[in-house]
Amino acid sequence: MTLSAAEIARFHEEGYLFLPEAFTPEEVALMRAEAEAIYAENRPEIWREKSGAPRTAFAAHTFNEAFRVLGAHPRLIEPVEQIFGEQLYMHQFKINAKSAFTGDVWQWHQDYGTWARDDGMPEPRAMNIAVFLDEVMAINGPLMLVPRSHTHGTLAAGHDVSTTSYPLWTLDEATVARLVAEGGIVAPTGKPGGVLMFHGNLVHGSAGNITPYPRKIVYLTLNAVSNHIRTPTRPDWIAHRDFTPIVPVPDDALARLAAHHGRRHAAE
Ligand code: SIN
Ligand code: MN
Repeated sequence: MTLSAAEIARFHEEGYLFLPEAFTPEEVALMRAEAEAIYAENRPEIWREKSGAPRTAFAAHTFNEAFRVLGAHPRLIEPVEQIFGEQLYMHQFKINAKSAFTGDVWQWHQDYGTWARDDGMPEPRAMNIAVFLDEVMAINGPLMLVPRSHTHGTLAAGHDVSTTSYPLWTLDEATVARLVAEGGIVAPTGKPGGVLMFHGNLVHGSAGNITPYPRKIVYLTLNAVSNHIRTPTRPDWIAHRDFTPIVPVPDDALARLAAHHGRRHAAE
């Protein structure tokens, strides 16, 4: 999947790009089932809310076949390679749950702030590219983005270790209000299979989910190989140390895996 010149221009201007229905219902059904099975496991890569509900599962591309394939999928790798003009490695991989009824807030933040401060990433040349595993609605805690906020560089942030179970470098209200006065807020919504990519310095966050509808999203953070992290402080299953360039799988690799799983279940 390659981006048009108009899409690339829009990304640079707005700081994000939403590509609806990039993955098929069959591909997403496999990933959704695998995500739910992962959340049911008891392993250190799974971070829980204060309530005990799953919040995020890290590094699933290292221990799950469907997510290994997703982590090298050309529909995700190619657009980001186009933007950075070089090969990529996986800096971080997470499946965020935003569980029904209890999914907690992600405060306003920039991701590059964390990658720079905690991981020693030299430049904001890493990109989040996300795949919706559930329908993302206005009511179930969609990701909210402040368009054009990526043009303000890396903003001052405070380390919030108390609001949720997950420590985060967050922005103060005055900063967010100033940027929103300029750029507004968008919350791309849509069917499972939608893809959302956004700049490392784009300000974003999400509200809690009090609805019965879960909102699972997988986030790949793809870093340009030359921009590999220099001084990591977080565990290697959060900020990876393997800087090997990703070799994309064939475009139908996930569909073939989904068909294979379907056949196996039908035979059981
Ligand atoms: C994030 O900012 O890393 C995640 C936000 C979300 O999944 O709502
Ligand atoms: Mn973030």
